[in-house]
Amino acid sequence: MNKLDCQSASEIVIFGALGDLSRRKLLPALYQLEVCGLINEKSRIVGVARPAHSVEDFKSIVLESLHDFVNEMLDENILARFTARLVYQQLDMKEACAYNHLADTLSAGNSTRVYYFSTPPTIYGDICNGLNHATLISSDDRIIMEKPIGHCLASSKVINDQVARFFNENQIYRIDHYLGKETVLNLLVLRFANSLFTNNWDRNSIDHVQITVAESVGIEGRWTFYDEAGQMRDMIQSHLLQILSLLAMEPPADLSASSIRAEKLKAVKALSPINRTNVKEKTVRGQYTDGFLNGVAVPSYLNEEGANTNSKTETFVAIKAEIDNWRWSGVPFYLRTGKRMPAKHSEIVVHFKAQPHNIFKDSYSELPSNKLTIRLQPDEGVELQMMNKIPGIASQMNIQENKLDLSFNDTYQDQRVIDAYERLMLEVLNGNQSLFVSRDEVEAAWTWADSIIDAWQATNEAPKPYAAGSWGPVSSISLIARDDRQWVE
Ligand code: BG6
Repeated sequence: MNKLDCQSASEIVIFGALGDLSRRKLLPALYQLEVCGLINEKSRIVGVARPAHSVEDFKSIVLESLHDFVNEMLDENILARFTARLVYQQLDMKEACAYNHLADTLSAGNSTRVYYFSTPPTIYGDICNGLNHATLISSDDRIIMEKPIGHCLASSKVINDQVARFFNENQIYRIDHYLGKETVLNLLVLRFANSLFTNNWDRNSIDHVQITVAESVGIEGRWTFYDEAGQMRDMIQSHLLQILSLLAMEPPADLSASSIRAEKLKAVKALSPINRTNVKEKTVRGQYTDGFLNGVAVPSYLNEEGANTNSKTETFVAIKAEIDNWRWSGVPFYLRTGKRMPAKHSEIVVHFKAQPHNIFKDSYSELPSNKLTIRLQPDEGVELQMMNKIPGIASQMNIQENKLDLSFNDTYQDQRVIDAYERLMLEVLNGNQSLFVSRDEVEAAWTWADSIIDAWQATNEAPKPYAAGSWGPVSSISLIARDDRQWVE
């Protein structure tokens, strides 16, 4: 039994508290938990960063962030309660001796400490060393690590090893914020609370699956980081594989972290390798050129601020992924993600198999197959495309394709939209690891991604151009058209 639940006190220590992630996501998420009364009254939030600031300065920065990034009116009473929890510690995070100051700041009591590493992963090891030096680690403490965990399998192992010297796996919460999104969580409910889908979720009923995560943004001033990562490391290795694993995993025995994580791991491990022999037929890399978004001209990737004009980094990836197991043999999962696509739009489309025989030829020469669309964002919802008779007296049976549409906005109008970080922070406070990525899964994901990256490097081909504001390079259409299928747009 974990010592900490939302009823007991904790010290939430954010390393990198003045950074973008902390200001945009973490502090607003904690504020919302405060609004919901989910933070124990004795808990404190300790901001750690390099600049020298007084606690009053820190409170002003936090207030400004809440005004900027909380999408609703702030409540003065709740704000007062929230800011009273704030503490600031100036720290050179690479300097082990400096952590003695942090020890002076943290309570000596028996609060459980939750350390959020919102810093570059290269200093995770330094932070662990410093905490250990100042005897700030006990078996009840938890750490939250942001992605990317490494740049490849080898570098992720180095980071995981550094952390594992001081923390056990059951204390480590590796964030992939997609796992905190309501619509991604709903995949569990859709699959395992509806026998209609549970019983038709395999190669016998499903023809193929498409997963699209399109973004209209470019690289948002993050050129140096992004150019080393590219869309493969930034999105596929993490977010898209998380979605894929939830879609493809075997039913877990229950909702416990061990059951869910074990099944997700098996799904990722069953991904068919893509390597130098098959990379050309299974993948497409693209890079955006100049174009227009909503009528506004936007520069190419190579003309973004700070760009290296020779870069061959991909900003778009399409992959035909296959899962070598009993359930999915022969069912492709087409993945597609890119920057500067026409809209922010993420969805999963499950294409069911066609009917074996058509008795409605007079009305429809080729019956379209059923499609289940799961709209992840925006306009969250689930939609099922099916055939229906057009009412009428005609003796001929006229039919058409219609949809059952469950829009979450319409159905849950009174519910506030919960940000992924709120959910994930709460799960850490509750000691529930089911929405966090295990070390084994991170490593399995890197193993699969590394092989693709290696194959791309071996071919040394430049990514295919696509105009900003389009759906990606033409070859991404051919990738799926070769199988007589097409992307849903
Ligand atoms: C991040 C990536 O993890 O996810 C970004 O580093 C990307 O490049 C972002 O834009 C997308 O997240 P969301 O929640 O806006 O879909």
